Amino acid sequence: MAGIVLVGAQWGDEGKGKITDLIAYDMDYVVRFQGGNNAGHTIVHGGRVLKLHLIPSGIMYPHITPVIGNGVVIDPKVLLEEMDALEADGLSTHRLLISCNAHLIMPYHRDLDGASERRLGKLEIGTTRRGIGPAYMDKASRMGLRVQDLEDPDIFREKLGAALAEKNDILTKVYGLTPYTVEEIAEEYLAYADRIKPHIADTSLAINRALEADSWVLFEGAQGTLLDLDHGTYPFVTSSSPTAGGACTGTGVGPRRIDRVLGVAKAYITRVGSGPFPTELENCPGSIGELLTKVGGEYGTTTGRQRRCGWYDAVIVRYAARVNGLTDLVVTKLDVLSELDTIKVCVAYEYEGHRYNDLPCHQTAFHHAKPIYEELPGWREDISGCRTFEELPKAARDYIAFIEELAEVPVSIIAVGPSREQTILRRWEVRP
Ligand code: GDP
Ligand code: IMO
Ligand code: MG
Repeated sequence: MAGIVLVGAQWGDEGKGKITDLIAYDMDYVVRFQGGNNAGHTIVHGGRVLKLHLIPSGIMYPHITPVIGNGVVIDPKVLLEEMDALEADGLSTHRLLISCNAHLIMPYHRDLDGASERRLGKLEIGTTRRGIGPAYMDKASRMGLRVQDLEDPDIFREKLGAALAEKNDILTKVYGLTPYTVEEIAEEYLAYADRIKPHIADTSLAINRALEADSWVLFEGAQGTLLDLDHGTYPFVTSSSPTAGGACTGTGVGPRRIDRVLGVAKAYITRVGSGPFPTELENCPGSIGELLTKVGGEYGTTTGRQRRCGWYDAVIVRYAARVNGLTDLVVTKLDVLSELDTIKVCVAYEYEGHRYNDLPCHQTAFHHAKPIYEELPGWREDISGCRTFEELPKAARDYIAFIEELAEVPVSIIAVGPSREQTILRRWEVRP
Protein backbone atom coordinates (compact mmCIF):
# COMPACT_ATOMS: atom_id res chain seq x y z
CA MET A 1 0.00 0.00 0.00
CA ALA A 2 1.34 3.40 -0.84
CA GLY A 3 -1.24 5.79 -2.32
CA ILE A 4 -4.25 6.37 -0.08
CA VAL A 5 -7.06 8.77 -0.85
CA LEU A 6 -9.31 10.12 1.91
CA VAL A 7 -12.54 11.87 0.89
CA GLY A 8 -15.69 13.17 2.51
CA ALA A 9 -18.65 10.86 1.85
CA GLN A 10 -21.36 13.44 2.64
CA TRP A 11 -21.56 17.27 2.41
CA GLY A 12 -18.22 18.05 4.06
CA ASP A 13 -17.16 18.45 7.70
CA GLU A 14 -17.19 14.69 8.24
CA GLY A 15 -14.03 14.81 10.35
CA LYS A 16 -11.51 14.45 7.52
CA GLY A 17 -8.97 16.56 9.41
CA LYS A 18 -9.12 14.35 12.48
CA ILE A 19 -8.78 11.13 10.47
CA THR A 20 -6.01 12.51 8.26
CA ASP A 21 -4.08 13.55 11.36
CA LEU A 22 -4.66 10.12 12.88
CA ILE A 23 -3.38 8.07 9.96
CA ALA A 24 -0.75 10.60 8.91
CA TYR A 25 1.53 9.01 11.49
CA ASP A 26 2.17 6.22 8.96
CA MET A 27 2.62 8.53 5.98
CA ASP A 28 5.57 10.27 4.36
CA TYR A 29 3.52 12.81 2.41
CA VAL A 30 0.07 14.35 2.99
CA VAL A 31 -1.31 16.13 -0.08
CA ARG A 32 -4.26 18.48 -0.54
CA PHE A 33 -5.59 18.08 -4.09
CA GLN A 34 -8.57 20.43 -4.47
CA GLY A 35 -10.57 23.22 -2.88
CA GLY A 36 -9.02 26.13 -1.06
CA ASN A 37 -9.63 27.97 2.15
CA ASN A 38 -13.33 27.13 1.96
CA ALA A 39 -12.16 24.02 3.84
CA GLY A 40 -11.91 23.98 7.61
CA HIS A 41 -10.26 20.87 9.06
CA THR A 42 -10.05 20.52 12.84
CA ILE A 43 -7.39 18.52 14.62
CA VAL A 44 -7.50 17.94 18.37
CA HIS A 45 -4.48 16.44 20.05
CA GLY A 46 -3.07 16.73 23.53
CA GLY A 47 -5.41 19.58 24.42
CA ARG A 48 -4.33 21.48 21.33
CA VAL A 49 -6.91 22.46 18.69
CA LEU A 50 -5.74 23.28 15.17
CA LYS A 51 -8.07 24.62 12.51
CA LEU A 52 -6.50 24.27 9.08
CA HIS A 53 -7.81 25.72 5.83
CA LEU A 54 -5.04 25.22 3.30
CA ILE A 55 -2.18 23.38 4.96
CA PRO A 56 -2.56 19.57 4.89
CA SER A 57 -3.57 17.97 8.17
CA GLY A 58 -0.29 16.02 8.48
CA ILE A 59 1.53 19.14 9.67
CA MET A 60 1.68 17.96 13.31
CA TYR A 61 4.23 15.27 12.40
CA PRO A 62 7.75 16.50 11.67
CA HIS A 63 8.57 13.49 9.46
CA ILE A 64 5.83 14.38 6.95
CA THR A 65 6.16 16.47 3.81
CA PRO A 66 2.92 18.45 3.41
CA VAL A 67 2.02 19.26 -0.18
CA ILE A 68 -0.48 21.63 -1.75
CA GLY A 69 -1.24 20.15 -5.17
CA ASN A 70 -2.05 21.79 -8.49
CA GLY A 71 -5.81 21.28 -8.02
CA VAL A 72 -5.96 23.63 -5.03
CA VAL A 73 -6.78 27.34 -5.35
CA ILE A 74 -4.56 29.39 -3.06
CA ASP A 75 -5.26 32.71 -1.41
CA PRO A 76 -1.65 33.67 -0.64
CA LYS A 77 -2.61 36.02 2.19
CA VAL A 78 -4.54 33.24 3.94
CA LEU A 79 -1.74 30.76 3.29
CA LEU A 80 0.90 32.99 4.88
CA GLU A 81 -1.34 33.79 7.84
CA GLU A 82 -1.90 30.08 8.40
CA MET A 83 1.83 29.37 8.14
CA ASP A 84 2.57 32.17 10.62
CA ALA A 85 -0.02 30.86 13.07
CA LEU A 86 1.46 27.35 12.91
CA GLU A 87 5.00 28.65 13.38
CA ALA A 88 3.83 30.71 16.37
CA ASP A 89 2.40 27.48 17.74
CA GLY A 90 5.79 25.78 17.42
CA LEU A 91 4.96 23.80 14.26
CA SER A 92 7.47 24.14 11.46
CA THR A 93 6.16 24.77 7.94
CA HIS A 94 9.53 24.76 6.18
CA ARG A 95 8.81 21.34 4.58
CA LEU A 96 5.67 22.58 2.82
CA LEU A 97 5.69 22.11 -0.96
CA ILE A 98 3.36 24.16 -3.15
CA SER A 99 2.59 23.22 -6.74
CA CYS A 100 3.84 25.72 -9.28
CA ASN A 101 0.62 25.03 -11.22
CA ALA A 102 -1.87 25.78 -8.44
CA HIS A 103 -4.08 28.77 -9.20
CA LEU A 104 -4.20 31.94 -7.12
CA ILE A 105 -7.29 33.44 -5.55
CA MET A 106 -7.21 37.15 -6.38
CA PRO A 107 -8.95 39.99 -4.52
CA TYR A 108 -11.53 40.32 -7.33
CA HIS A 109 -12.44 36.63 -6.92
CA ARG A 110 -13.50 37.31 -3.35
CA ASP A 111 -15.46 40.41 -4.43
CA LEU A 112 -17.22 38.52 -7.22
CA ASP A 113 -18.08 35.57 -4.97
CA GLY A 114 -19.88 37.90 -2.55
CA ALA A 115 -21.49 39.99 -5.29
CA SER A 116 -22.90 37.04 -7.22
CA GLU A 117 -24.31 35.54 -4.03
CA ARG A 118 -25.98 38.85 -3.18
CA ARG A 119 -27.43 39.01 -6.68
CA LEU A 120 -28.85 35.49 -6.40
CA GLY A 121 -30.72 36.59 -3.26
CA LYS A 122 -32.80 33.75 -1.90
CA LEU A 123 -31.44 31.48 -4.64
CA GLU A 124 -27.91 31.88 -3.23
CA ILE A 125 -25.65 28.83 -2.96
CA GLY A 126 -24.48 29.87 0.49
CA THR A 127 -20.81 29.84 -0.50
CA THR A 128 -18.04 30.58 1.97
CA ARG A 129 -17.40 33.79 -0.02
CA ARG A 130 -13.69 33.01 -0.15
CA GLY A 131 -13.51 33.48 -3.94
CA ILE A 132 -13.38 29.75 -4.68
CA GLY A 133 -15.96 29.61 -7.50
CA PRO A 134 -14.63 32.68 -9.38
CA ALA A 135 -11.03 31.38 -9.09
CA TYR A 136 -11.98 28.03 -10.64
CA MET A 137 -14.02 29.88 -13.29
CA ASP A 138 -10.90 31.78 -14.32
CA LYS A 139 -8.87 28.57 -14.31
CA ALA A 140 -11.38 26.96 -16.69
CA SER A 141 -11.60 30.04 -18.87
CA ARG A 142 -7.77 30.20 -18.99
CA MET A 143 -7.60 33.60 -17.38
CA GLY A 144 -6.16 32.51 -14.04
CA LEU A 145 -2.87 33.46 -12.45
CA ARG A 146 -0.81 30.60 -11.07
CA VAL A 147 1.69 30.21 -8.27
CA GLN A 148 4.57 30.12 -10.77
CA ASP A 149 3.54 33.57 -12.05
CA LEU A 150 4.66 34.95 -8.68
CA GLU A 151 8.23 34.10 -9.68
CA ASP A 152 8.25 36.49 -12.62
CA PRO A 153 6.98 40.02 -11.88
CA ASP A 154 6.75 40.96 -15.57
CA ILE A 155 4.63 37.96 -16.47
CA PHE A 156 2.55 38.46 -13.32
CA ARG A 157 1.76 42.06 -14.28
CA GLU A 158 1.04 41.13 -17.89
CA LYS A 159 -1.41 38.36 -17.00
CA LEU A 160 -2.99 40.47 -14.28
CA GLY A 161 -3.48 43.32 -16.76
CA ALA A 162 -5.26 40.98 -19.18
CA ALA A 163 -7.49 39.65 -16.42
CA LEU A 164 -8.29 43.09 -15.00
CA ALA A 165 -9.31 44.41 -18.42
CA GLU A 166 -12.33 42.10 -18.11
CA LYS A 167 -12.73 41.87 -14.34
CA ASN A 168 -12.89 45.63 -13.83
CA ASP A 169 -15.74 45.85 -16.34
CA ILE A 170 -17.64 43.15 -14.50
CA LEU A 171 -16.89 44.65 -11.09
CA THR A 172 -17.99 48.15 -12.07
CA LYS A 173 -20.62 47.69 -14.77
CA VAL A 174 -22.34 44.54 -13.56
CA TYR A 175 -21.99 44.85 -9.80
CA GLY A 176 -21.24 48.54 -9.19
CA LEU A 177 -18.05 47.68 -7.28
CA THR A 178 -14.66 49.39 -7.18
CA PRO A 179 -12.11 48.47 -9.90
CA TYR A 180 -8.49 47.46 -9.21
CA THR A 181 -5.24 48.74 -10.69
CA VAL A 182 -2.54 46.31 -11.78
CA GLU A 183 -0.06 48.03 -9.49
CA GLU A 184 -2.06 47.75 -6.27
CA ILE A 185 -2.55 43.99 -6.66
CA ALA A 186 0.97 43.41 -8.02
CA GLU A 187 2.47 45.24 -5.06
CA GLU A 188 0.53 43.11 -2.58
CA TYR A 189 1.02 39.75 -4.30
CA LEU A 190 4.67 40.19 -5.26
CA ALA A 191 5.39 40.96 -1.62
CA TYR A 192 3.92 37.54 -0.73
CA ALA A 193 6.04 35.98 -3.46
CA ASP A 194 9.31 36.30 -1.54
CA ARG A 195 7.96 34.13 1.23
CA ILE A 196 6.20 31.64 -1.01
CA LYS A 197 9.04 31.07 -3.51
CA PRO A 198 11.11 28.66 -1.36
CA HIS A 199 8.10 26.33 -1.20
CA ILE A 200 7.25 26.29 -4.92
CA ALA A 201 7.94 22.93 -6.53
CA ASP A 202 7.02 20.50 -9.29
CA THR A 203 4.88 18.57 -6.83
CA SER A 204 3.73 15.97 -9.38
CA LEU A 205 7.37 15.00 -9.86
CA ALA A 206 8.02 14.98 -6.11
CA ILE A 207 5.00 12.80 -5.30
CA ASN A 208 5.60 10.35 -8.15
CA ARG A 209 9.24 9.96 -7.15
CA ALA A 210 8.16 9.37 -3.57
CA LEU A 211 5.66 6.70 -4.66
CA GLU A 212 8.31 5.01 -6.80
CA ALA A 213 10.54 4.88 -3.72
CA ASP A 214 7.71 3.13 -1.78
CA SER A 215 6.88 6.16 0.32
CA TRP A 216 3.34 6.38 1.65
CA VAL A 217 1.26 9.24 0.36
CA LEU A 218 -2.10 10.31 1.75
CA PHE A 219 -4.29 12.47 -0.49
CA GLU A 220 -6.45 14.55 1.85
CA GLY A 221 -9.77 15.58 0.35
CA ALA A 222 -11.63 18.74 1.28
CA GLN A 223 -15.42 19.28 1.07
CA GLY A 224 -17.34 16.09 0.28
CA THR A 225 -18.85 13.89 -2.40
CA LEU A 226 -22.18 15.73 -2.58
CA LEU A 227 -20.34 19.05 -2.99
CA ASP A 228 -18.50 17.73 -6.07
CA LEU A 229 -18.98 19.86 -9.17
CA ASP A 230 -19.86 16.80 -11.29
CA HIS A 231 -21.27 14.32 -8.79
CA GLY A 232 -22.79 16.57 -6.13
CA THR A 233 -26.14 18.27 -5.69
CA TYR A 234 -25.53 20.78 -8.49
CA PRO A 235 -25.80 23.79 -8.40
CA PHE A 236 -25.48 23.66 -4.60
CA VAL A 237 -21.90 22.42 -4.80
CA THR A 238 -18.38 23.75 -4.72
CA SER A 239 -16.37 24.34 -7.91
CA SER A 240 -13.80 21.56 -7.61
CA SER A 241 -13.65 17.73 -7.61
CA PRO A 242 -13.63 16.50 -4.00
CA THR A 243 -14.26 12.90 -5.14
CA ALA A 244 -11.43 10.39 -5.43
CA GLY A 245 -10.72 11.07 -9.12
CA GLY A 246 -9.81 14.61 -8.12
CA ALA A 247 -6.81 13.21 -6.24
CA CYS A 248 -5.26 12.23 -9.58
CA THR A 249 -6.05 15.35 -11.62
CA GLY A 250 -5.33 17.58 -8.62
CA THR A 251 -1.82 16.22 -8.11
CA GLY A 252 -0.55 14.76 -11.38
CA VAL A 253 -0.55 11.17 -10.14
CA GLY A 254 -2.00 8.31 -12.19
CA PRO A 255 -4.94 6.20 -10.91
CA ARG A 256 -2.78 3.04 -10.81
CA ARG A 257 -0.95 4.61 -7.86
CA ILE A 258 -4.04 4.61 -5.66
CA ASP A 259 -4.30 1.52 -3.46
CA ARG A 260 -7.01 2.44 -1.02
CA VAL A 261 -9.86 4.97 -0.91
CA LEU A 262 -11.28 5.93 2.47
CA GLY A 263 -14.64 7.67 2.71
CA VAL A 264 -15.34 9.58 5.91
CA ALA A 265 -18.97 9.84 7.05
CA LYS A 266 -20.53 11.13 10.22
CA ALA A 267 -22.83 8.76 12.10
CA TYR A 268 -25.53 11.32 11.14
CA ILE A 269 -25.22 14.00 8.46
CA THR A 270 -24.76 17.76 8.21
CA ARG A 271 -24.72 20.41 5.54
CA VAL A 272 -23.69 24.10 5.54
CA GLY A 273 -25.14 26.39 2.92
CA SER A 274 -28.20 25.97 0.73
CA GLY A 275 -29.54 23.00 -1.19
CA PRO A 276 -31.67 19.89 -0.86
CA PHE A 277 -31.29 17.69 2.22
CA PRO A 278 -33.78 14.79 2.45
CA THR A 279 -33.10 13.74 6.06
CA GLU A 280 -32.80 17.26 7.49
CA LEU A 281 -34.17 17.60 11.02
CA GLU A 282 -35.98 20.61 12.38
CA ASN A 283 -33.88 22.67 14.73
CA CYS A 284 -36.37 23.98 17.29
CA PRO A 285 -35.88 23.96 21.07
CA GLY A 286 -35.94 20.43 22.44
CA SER A 287 -35.70 18.82 18.97
CA ILE A 288 -33.27 16.10 17.89
CA GLY A 289 -31.86 18.53 15.33
CA GLU A 290 -30.98 20.91 18.14
CA LEU A 291 -29.46 18.09 20.18
CA LEU A 292 -27.18 17.02 17.30
CA THR A 293 -26.14 20.65 16.72
CA LYS A 294 -25.30 21.17 20.38
CA VAL A 295 -23.73 17.82 21.26
CA GLY A 296 -21.92 17.61 17.92
CA GLY A 297 -20.78 21.25 18.07
CA GLU A 298 -22.12 21.69 14.55
CA TYR A 299 -20.87 25.15 13.69
CA GLY A 300 -18.73 25.73 10.59
CA THR A 301 -14.95 25.76 11.06
CA THR A 302 -14.53 28.34 8.30
CA THR A 303 -17.56 30.63 8.48
CA GLY A 304 -18.98 29.84 11.94
CA ARG A 305 -22.40 29.20 10.37
CA GLN A 306 -24.67 26.70 12.11
CA ARG A 307 -24.68 23.42 10.22
CA ARG A 308 -27.98 21.84 9.22
CA CYS A 309 -28.28 18.39 10.83
CA GLY A 310 -30.12 15.23 9.82
CA TRP A 311 -30.34 11.47 10.22
CA TYR A 312 -27.70 9.26 8.61
CA ASP A 313 -28.54 8.86 4.93
CA ALA A 314 -27.41 5.47 3.65
CA VAL A 315 -28.45 6.30 0.09
CA ILE A 316 -25.91 9.10 0.03
CA VAL A 317 -23.10 7.02 1.50
CA ARG A 318 -23.84 4.15 -0.90
CA TYR A 319 -23.58 6.71 -3.71
CA ALA A 320 -20.28 7.97 -2.28
CA ALA A 321 -19.03 4.37 -2.19
CA ARG A 322 -19.84 4.10 -5.90
CA VAL A 323 -18.48 7.36 -7.28
CA ASN A 324 -15.31 7.22 -5.20
CA GLY A 325 -14.72 3.47 -5.41
CA LEU A 326 -14.43 3.35 -1.62
CA THR A 327 -12.45 0.48 -0.14
CA ASP A 328 -13.13 1.58 3.44
CA LEU A 329 -15.60 3.64 5.40
CA VAL A 330 -14.65 5.74 8.39
CA VAL A 331 -17.56 6.60 10.70
CA THR A 332 -17.05 9.63 12.92
CA LYS A 333 -19.00 11.23 15.78
CA LEU A 334 -20.67 8.01 16.87
CA ASP A 335 -20.47 9.41 20.43
CA VAL A 336 -22.84 12.24 19.47
CA LEU A 337 -25.72 9.74 19.11
CA SER A 338 -25.27 8.39 22.65
CA GLU A 339 -28.09 10.50 24.12
CA LEU A 340 -30.78 9.14 21.81
CA ASP A 341 -33.31 6.41 22.71
CA THR A 342 -33.73 5.38 19.09
CA ILE A 343 -31.86 6.30 15.94
CA LYS A 344 -33.25 6.56 12.42
CA VAL A 345 -31.36 5.60 9.30
CA CYS A 346 -32.59 6.53 5.84
CA VAL A 347 -32.39 3.36 3.73
CA ALA A 348 -34.13 4.58 0.55
CA TYR A 349 -36.23 7.46 -0.82
CA GLU A 350 -39.78 7.67 -2.06
CA TYR A 351 -40.76 10.02 -4.86
CA GLU A 352 -43.99 9.93 -6.87
CA GLY A 353 -44.73 6.37 -5.80
CA HIS A 354 -41.28 5.05 -6.73
CA ARG A 355 -38.74 3.68 -4.28
CA TYR A 356 -35.17 4.81 -4.87
CA ASN A 357 -32.45 2.63 -3.35
CA ASP A 358 -29.86 4.64 -5.26
CA LEU A 359 -29.45 8.40 -5.42
CA PRO A 360 -31.83 9.76 -8.07
CA CYS A 361 -29.96 11.17 -11.02
CA HIS A 362 -32.61 13.80 -11.65
CA GLN A 363 -32.50 16.85 -9.35
CA THR A 364 -36.29 17.13 -9.06
CA ALA A 365 -36.54 13.62 -7.63
CA PHE A 366 -33.77 14.36 -5.12
CA HIS A 367 -35.26 17.74 -4.13
CA HIS A 368 -38.59 16.06 -3.33
CA ALA A 369 -37.25 12.72 -2.09
CA LYS A 370 -38.98 11.51 1.08
CA PRO A 371 -36.73 9.42 3.27
CA ILE A 372 -37.76 5.85 4.10
CA TYR A 373 -36.42 5.19 7.57
CA GLU A 374 -35.56 2.19 9.65
CA GLU A 375 -35.36 2.79 13.37
CA LEU A 376 -32.67 1.23 15.51
CA PRO A 377 -32.32 1.16 19.29
CA GLY A 378 -29.90 3.65 20.86
CA TRP A 379 -27.32 2.72 23.50
CA ARG A 380 -27.65 5.61 25.95
CA GLU A 381 -24.18 5.31 27.45
CA ASP A 382 -20.93 7.17 27.12
CA ILE A 383 -18.81 5.49 24.44
CA SER A 384 -16.09 8.16 24.19
CA GLY A 385 -13.69 5.96 26.18
CA CYS A 386 -14.10 2.87 23.95
CA ARG A 387 -10.94 1.90 22.08
CA THR A 388 -11.94 -1.45 20.59
CA PHE A 389 -15.02 -2.49 18.66
CA GLU A 390 -15.83 -5.09 21.31
CA GLU A 391 -15.95 -2.40 24.01
CA LEU A 392 -18.83 -0.66 22.23
CA PRO A 393 -22.33 -1.47 23.50
CA LYS A 394 -24.20 -4.02 21.36
CA ALA A 395 -26.62 -1.42 19.97
CA ALA A 396 -23.67 0.69 18.75
CA ARG A 397 -22.05 -2.34 17.13
CA ASP A 398 -25.34 -3.17 15.45
CA TYR A 399 -25.61 0.41 14.18
CA ILE A 400 -22.16 0.16 12.58
CA ALA A 401 -23.01 -3.25 11.12
CA PHE A 402 -26.16 -1.77 9.58
CA ILE A 403 -24.18 1.10 8.03
CA GLU A 404 -21.69 -1.40 6.66
CA GLU A 405 -24.41 -3.61 5.19
CA LEU A 406 -26.15 -0.69 3.48
CA ALA A 407 -22.95 0.79 2.03
CA GLU A 408 -21.46 -2.59 1.11
CA VAL A 409 -18.13 -1.24 2.32
CA PRO A 410 -16.36 -2.27 5.54
CA VAL A 411 -16.20 0.28 8.36
CA SER A 412 -12.48 0.31 9.14
CA ILE A 413 -12.18 3.20 11.58
CA ILE A 414 -14.71 4.58 14.08
CA ALA A 415 -14.28 7.91 15.87
CA VAL A 416 -15.87 8.35 19.29
CA GLY A 417 -14.60 11.83 20.15
CA PRO A 418 -12.70 14.76 18.63
CA SER A 419 -9.21 13.93 19.86
CA ARG A 420 -6.72 11.72 18.07
CA GLU A 421 -6.85 8.93 20.61
CA GLN A 422 -10.67 8.72 20.68
CA THR A 423 -10.66 6.28 17.82
CA ILE A 424 -11.31 2.60 17.18
CA LEU A 425 -9.06 1.04 14.54
CA ARG A 426 -10.81 -2.03 13.15
CA ARG A 427 -9.18 -2.64 9.82
CA TRP A 428 -6.25 -0.31 9.80
CA GLU A 429 -2.91 -2.04 10.03
CA VAL A 430 -0.19 0.24 11.26
CA ARG A 431 2.67 0.42 8.73
CA PRO A 432 5.27 -2.27 9.36
P1 GDP B 1 -13.58 18.23 8.25
O1 GDP B 1 -13.85 19.49 7.51
O2 GDP B 1 -14.11 17.03 7.54
O3 GDP B 1 -12.14 18.06 8.63
O4 GDP B 1 -14.41 18.34 9.60
P2 GDP B 1 -14.47 19.62 10.58
O5 GDP B 1 -13.20 19.71 11.32
O6 GDP B 1 -14.94 20.81 9.85
O7 GDP B 1 -15.69 19.20 11.51
C1 GDP B 1 -15.65 18.04 12.27
C2 GDP B 1 -15.80 18.43 13.74
O8 GDP B 1 -16.10 17.28 14.51
C3 GDP B 1 -14.52 18.99 14.35
O9 GDP B 1 -14.87 19.94 15.32
C4 GDP B 1 -13.87 17.79 14.98
O10 GDP B 1 -13.02 18.13 16.08
C5 GDP B 1 -15.07 17.03 15.47
N1 GDP B 1 -14.94 15.57 15.49
C6 GDP B 1 -14.30 14.76 14.62
N2 GDP B 1 -14.51 13.47 14.94
C7 GDP B 1 -15.29 13.47 16.04
C8 GDP B 1 -15.90 12.43 16.85
O11 GDP B 1 -15.76 11.25 16.59
N3 GDP B 1 -16.68 12.84 17.89
C9 GDP B 1 -16.89 14.15 18.18
N4 GDP B 1 -17.67 14.44 19.22
N5 GDP B 1 -16.35 15.15 17.46
C10 GDP B 1 -15.57 14.80 16.40
P1 IMO C 1 -14.53 20.96 4.56
O1 IMO C 1 -13.26 20.63 3.81
C1 IMO C 1 -18.75 22.00 4.33
C2 IMO C 1 -19.99 24.48 0.94
C3 IMO C 1 -20.45 25.89 1.21
C4 IMO C 1 -21.48 26.04 0.11
C5 IMO C 1 -20.83 25.29 -1.05
C6 IMO C 1 -20.09 26.18 -2.05
O2 IMO C 1 -14.29 21.64 5.84
O3 IMO C 1 -15.40 19.75 4.64
P2 IMO C 1 -17.76 27.46 -1.90
O4 IMO C 1 -17.26 28.52 -0.97
O5 IMO C 1 -16.94 26.21 -1.91
O6 IMO C 1 -18.00 27.96 -3.30
O7 IMO C 1 -19.23 27.06 -1.35
O8 IMO C 1 -19.93 24.38 -0.47
N1 IMO C 1 -18.65 24.16 1.47
C7 IMO C 1 -18.44 23.36 2.53
N2 IMO C 1 -19.30 22.76 3.37
N3 IMO C 1 -17.42 21.80 4.47
C8 IMO C 1 -16.54 22.36 3.61
O9 IMO C 1 -15.23 22.08 3.63
C9 IMO C 1 -17.03 23.22 2.60
N4 IMO C 1 -16.46 23.96 1.63
C10 IMO C 1 -17.46 24.51 0.93
O10 IMO C 1 -21.02 26.01 2.49
O11 IMO C 1 -22.66 25.36 0.45
MG1 MG D 1 -14.75 21.35 7.80
